[in-house]
Amino acid sequence: MIVGAKRTQSLAPQFFAALNRRIAELTAAGHDVIRLDVGSPDMPPPAHIIEALANAAARSDRHGYQSHNATPRLRSAWSAAYQRLYGVKLDADLQVLPLMGSKEGIFHLALAIVNPGDVVLIPDPGYMTYAQSTRISGGEVYPLPLIRERGYLPDLGSIPGSVLERARILWLNYPNNPTGAVAETGFFEQVVDFAARHRLLVCHDAAYAQVTYGGYVAPSILQVPGAAQVAVEFNTLSKSHNMAGWRVGAAMGNTDALRNLFIVKSNADSGHFLPILEAAEAALEGDQTWMRQRNEIYQLRRDLVLQTLKKIGWQVDAPKAGLYIWLPAPDQWSSAEFVQELLESAHVALTPGEVFGEQGKGYLRIAITAPENRLREAMQRLTDFVHRRG
Ligand SMILES: Cc1ncc(COP(=O)(O)O)c(C=O)c1O
Repeated sequence: MIVGAKRTQSLAPQFFAALNRRIAELTAAGHDVIRLDVGSPDMPPPAHIIEALANAAARSDRHGYQSHNATPRLRSAWSAAYQRLYGVKLDADLQVLPLMGSKEGIFHLALAIVNPGDVVLIPDPGYMTYAQSTRISGGEVYPLPLIRERGYLPDLGSIPGSVLERARILWLNYPNNPTGAVAETGFFEQVVDFAARHRLLVCHDAAYAQVTYGGYVAPSILQVPGAAQVAVEFNTLSKSHNMAGWRVGAAMGNTDALRNLFIVKSNADSGHFLPILEAAEAALEGDQTWMRQRNEIYQLRRDLVLQTLKKIGWQVDAPKAGLYIWLPAPDQWSSAEFVQELLESAHVALTPGEVFGEQGKGYLRIAITAPENRLREAMQRLTDFVHRRG
């Protein structure tokens, strides 16, 4: 028997890997499972992006290894997008590092920055990779509770001095997964000041910044003057451009952090497929107006879920951004049991809140990444399940 390394055993198996297996079994047994668990955009990217990929893939000179930091044009396209969206100026060569999806960079950043025994401050509930990458690097996770009464913003003043002395990274993510909360520039200003005083690297994960509703515009932390001295922002085309499977993201901002991240990632991968890089350039440089209509579709779905929950008698906050509805599980259920029973008997997959940390216990996350007819069907099944079992 091959025994895994201690560091591997310190990791919980990825929740969605186990869920995928169970869903495959149910599907093979003839059940029609509706997936509202993982936040994988179900709509395709617009035609001009797919055409850029197809045209490049058809050429004979587009199939070799690429540079570890992609193409100069893609780095410039990210920089231009930050200028256009936020008025932020970034040096395309020193302050932009393309990634194979933002998850790759989020994971490798811990290996690049965290020494064994260092503390990493992590939102709880939060995207799992912040904690998992900390653990695999030998670092210690210090959870920052995100609670509704504080608008799901962390209470930085509550972190003990002894923890701050050992802390190297503060993770933030707005619009937030899983709570749907947003943060404003004033909060980012406080964070930048706090990080400078405590010599922390702030990592802001802006994965959902362009999935917004009712005219809401999500700010970038890099808009705060001086932010690039202490902050890196992670961004991705996965949600903004419906390109989750393409694996295109970027880290932007602090040059020291990016240089160290580059050392790790250049040892782990050998660059993207060039047609994907050219399609990503087309995504960032081309028409962006299609996103408004895409966001309206998500907003209709969000409202459909909220109406159903209201009819069931559950009062739930309407998120201004992101792909998720975050709600307490009904009283008599633990969130894990509710999710399991709903999957097994109604064949609707949700995510139990504890996957995102201790504070997520008792919560459910519903992703709105299914077409309207499937979402309606899922909401009907949920309603029937609650009437039967609630
Ligand atoms: C908060 C957050 N950050 C990062 C990611 C990773 O996105 P990707 O690796 O596709 O860029 C996700 C994916 O769901 C996410 O929810």
